[in-house]
Amino acid sequence: MSAPPRTVLVAEPGEAEAIRAAVRAPDLAALGAGRRVARLEDAQALTDLLEDPAVSDPIYDLPRPFTVANVRGWIEHALEEQARGEGLLVLNWDEAGELTGYSKFSVWPERSAAEIGGAMRASRQSRGQGGAGALHSFGWMFERLGVRLIGLTAALDNVRSARLIDAAGFVRQGERDSVRPDGTVRRSLYWELTRDAWQAARAATGGTP
Ligand SMILES: CC(C)(COP(=O)(O)OP(=O)(O)OC[C@H]1O[C@@H](n2cnc3c(N)ncnc32)[C@H](O)[C@@H]1OP(=O)(O)O)[C@@H](O)C(=O)NCCC(=O)NCCS
Repeated sequence: MSAPPRTVLVAEPGEAEAIRAAVRAPDLAALGAGRRVARLEDAQALTDLLEDPAVSDPIYDLPRPFTVANVRGWIEHALEEQARGEGLLVLNWDEAGELTGYSKFSVWPERSAAEIGGAMRASRQSRGQGGAGALHSFGWMFERLGVRLIGLTAALDNVRSARLIDAAGFVRQGERDSVRPDGTVRRSLYWELTRDAWQAARAATGGTP
């Protein structure tokens, strides 16, 4: 299951409450077109997406096996997390109404910290969209959720994720164990980025990325 970043920040009560409020009522228009919070009735479409190993194999915290009931339970759990201001499951839809990807945000308001995991439909992968989307999502987490720290993990062999996370300015901090829902462990690469470092890099490059 998702674990908070190794670095421990302490949020003032007001900061933590503002983060919880931002998670409960997320500014999804700023996250991107076609984004909306996953609903129980999306379980079939999300199951179909996750059944493709090119989408789900690299991700440790998904509700395996991918049955509609398990995925429905995962959505339900995410809605409960969102009500507490501690998590958010967002689905990405194209103009034709096809589910093209998802993003799962885990948030620790008292630590002003968050994590994101996600995937895109296989036909959309390796065309530069993931890198651009991830960069935008990181900025959204700092600016709209209001966290000061993001921690990320990726499978040791996930070259695309590692490249895009490095390129976004995240600092490698070795490896860590990621615990799957069934209790088994996946070894992961681990990165962190602070909002201060992200803002400084943006200022140095004139706003990009
Ligand atoms: C990870 C994922 C979101 C990346 O998005 P993407 O659109 O496929 O990736 P991009 O095309 O933006 O490429 C990202 C980087 O990987 C490189 N890359 C793309 N395809 C590659 C391939 N087949 N082999 C090696 N590198 C590749 C790109 O050149 C880019 O690196 P660069 O910026 O240094 O040039 C997407 O591939 C995906 O959904 N994968 C399945 C699930 C997953 O792994 N999720 C992440 C878990 S941490």
